[in-house]
This record gives sequence, structure tokens and C-alpha cells, in this order.
Amino acid sequence: EDPDAELAVVSLPSYACQRHTPLQHHNKGLIGALSILAENAELSENEGRGVAFRRAAALLKSLPQEIGRAGQLRGLPCLGDHSLRVIKEVLEDGGCREVEATKESEQFKAMKALTGIFGVGPKTADRWFREGIHTPSDLQRSGHTLNRAQQAGLQHYDDLNLPVTKAEADAICLIVERAVGEVLPGAEITLIGGFRRGKQTGHDVDFLITHPEEGREEGLMVKVVSWLEAQGLLLYQKTTRNSYLEGKDGPARPPSNMDRFERCFSIFRLSAEQLRRTTHSTTDPSSRVNTDLHTVPPQSALRRSDSSAQMDGQVRVESSVWSQGSGSRSWRAVRLDLVVSPYSQFAFALLGWTGSKLFERELRRWAVHERAMTLSSHTLYDSRQKLYLRAGSEQEIFALLGLEYIPPCGRNA
Ligand code: CTP
Ligand code: MN
Ligand code: MN
Ligand code: MN
Repeated sequence: EDPDAELAVVSLPSYACQRHTPLQHHNKGLIGALSILAENAELSENEGRGVAFRRAAALLKSLPQEIGRAGQLRGLPCLGDHSLRVIKEVLEDGGCREVEATKESEQFKAMKALTGIFGVGPKTADRWFREGIHTPSDLQRSGHTLNRAQQAGLQHYDDLNLPVTKAEADAICLIVERAVGEVLPGAEITLIGGFRRGKQTGHDVDFLITHPEEGREEGLMVKVVSWLEAQGLLLYQKTTRNSYLEGKDGPARPPSNMDRFERCFSIFRLSAEQLRRTTHSTTDPSSRVNTDLHTVPPQSALRRSDSSAQMDGQVRVESSVWSQGSGSRSWRAVRLDLVVSPYSQFAFALLGWTGSKLFERELRRWAVHERAMTLSSHTLYDSRQKLYLRAGSEQEIFALLGLEYIPPCGRNA
């Protein structure tokens, strides 16, 4: 064999925040296999192992072409022994035994099903699994006392496990925009999370709210949530106050991935009528097809294309939530996350909440290890200068970190 063929197809930097990671990539099989192992590690609360598989998968997502032989990966970063072993096996045998065994494992299946309940994390799911509870129905029958979040999660289990479409996100956006406009004129709302990165579906909808006059945003969340509740639009909500105090509460405190903004984790009641109205009035021609339906949303919102049915590397084959059985549903439940940030921290909040989770983790790791800086969703702290660095845009933050700017669509690590 030609030894040159064994050289890496391309050279890539090792931090995901130094590379573009597009939504569409060329190694779906390999990435799917690594993602299963990452997911299993996360469900087993083996964070380090999970991150190692996620980094390997993200590296493959940045490759400009499909990999045919493992030799083509020589010299590339982020690929540990274990990940390379999995990649080789998939390339040579068309599958990996460890991945197949994981997918078939009762524990993995049960942990996935149980953590798929809103309000249930791996610790609780594991405890239940060891009591013989493997499914949401087992849990229902068990008579366990559930907290408010878990009760809502169980109640809306099917809806919350169906992908949320961009059309549904747009419909919710219009309503939240209205709520925000009513309670604080001049406040601004931005779609963040996966949809900002260009995803066509998500597991929830995320919005960041701010006001150009610093301080006006204080107490805004409570008002927005009350407005939505008064309209009967929230099936569940838990609001947390802003607990951030610069200096007192900055990088000197134990590092935490959780930021301290006013935020609300909720379950939104999206009606078919609201969805229909949005898809009819939108100026985006792609979502204006089949508007001849009267009682149900247009087909664009109803049918999920093959590519949009893909979530987290796994293809879900299911009919739309809006057209179950013979009739059509009048509403569905959608997970909705709201965050309020002061204007001065907006760029940091935007960067911190756009994701992906791995991209965010890599940004913080880069900041600490390569620049001796602490990045959060509030600010950037330079430990050498002992100084908070201000920024008015994401571009400025990348520049302060000495990184090339990566637009949201390139942050799908
Ligand atoms: N995030 C956070 N703190 C949380 C939850 C989420 O800072 N308690 C951030 C994540 O780091 C991510 C963003 O919020 O950057 C969006 O998180 P999430 O909605 O969980 O993921 P998405 O990337 O939006 O993916 P999906 O489409 O599945 O919702
Ligand atoms: Mn290993
Ligand atoms: Mn999201
Ligand atoms: Mn979210």
C-alpha cells in the first residue's frame, strides 16, 4: 500500500473552539457509535470517559470528508486508544461489539428511558433501576413519591421526547416576544441553544432576554412567567433568581458550570392554532407551504423529514405529534428555557447559552489552560492581570481569548 495514503486527510487543531464543527458531517456511522458510548458513560456518571468520546466524535464532525480507513486518522488529535479501537472496528467490520452490546443492555435502555423523564437525572434513574424500575410505566405503577418536575415530566413524557421543530420554536418565539413586550417594552429576546446553531429540531427551545438599559431587566422573569401563566400557557415552571455578584461571586468562588442568571425551566403548552397562525404569517417562504389546512397546522410543521427526525445521532421513526391516530391534536407540550441577562453581560450570556455543551466546555478549557482566563456566561476574568474583561459581542470575546471567530453554525461540536 502507498504509505502516503496513511497520512491524515487534513490537520486539525485539538480544541473544538479552534475549529468549525458544522451540523452536516461526513462520518455518521462512526459518530453514532462514539455517541452511544459517550451517552452510556454520562448515564453511568463517568464524566471523563463521556467527554473523551464526545471529543473524539466532535473531531470527526469537523472532518471535510468520509473516513475509509483508520490510517487516514494518523496524527489527528482527540482520538484516544479506546475511540480509535471503536473506529477501526466500525470501519473494518461495519459495527462495534461494545456499541451493540451497550445498545442492547437493559441498564442502558432503562437509564435512557428514565432520564428521558424531565426532572430525572442519572442518580435517581440508577436508584430506580436497581429497584427493578425500567420504564416510565414501571415508575407510574411503583407509587414512588415524585417531585413537581418529575410529575410533569411523567405526565408529558411522550410529547417531551418528540423533537421540537423550528416551526414550533418560531411559534413559541412569537408568544414569548409578546409576553416580554407587554411586561417590559424595549426588552429584547434572542433564540439561543441548538436552533441558533442552525439545527432544524431540538429537545427544547431556549431564549435569552435582556434590556438595553442596564437594570431594567431586574425582576423581568417573574413578570414574563406570570403573564404566560395567566394565559394558561405554562404546564410547569420553575424560576430561579439571579444570584450573581461580580467580585464576591466571580471566579474566586468554586467554579461551577451553572451560571447564576434569572432563569426559568418550563413546559410550554403550544396549541395547534398558535402554530398554524405563525406558519401562516411568517415571511420565511419555506414554512409557508400547504396553507390550505384549516384545523391543523400546515404539513411543513406536521411532517418531520428524515434529516430532522435525527436527534443525537439516532434516527427516530415516528409519526408526528400533531396527527396521532385518526384525529389531530389541539396542543402539545414543549420544553422551554428562558434566561434573563443584564445588557452588560449579554455577549457572554449569548456565547454561553448557544452551545453546544461540548463547544462551551472546550472554550472554558481553552481559556484556563491556554490563556489563564476564566470564562463564564457572565464575564471573562484574566488571572494574570487580575482583571475582568468586558465585551460587547461574541466576536470580541473570541478576540480576547485569542481565537478565530466561530459563528454559531460552526459550534455544533
Ligand atoms: N446550559 C447551561 N446551563 C444549564 C443548561 C444548559 O448553561 N443548566 C447551556 C448549555 O451549555 C448550552 C445551552 O444552554 O450551551 C443550551 O442547552 P440545551 O438546551 O440543553 O442544548 P441545545 O444545545 O440547545 O440542544 P437541544 O437542541 O437538544 O436543546
Ligand atoms: Mn479507554
Ligand atoms: Mn436547547
Ligand atoms: Mn435548554
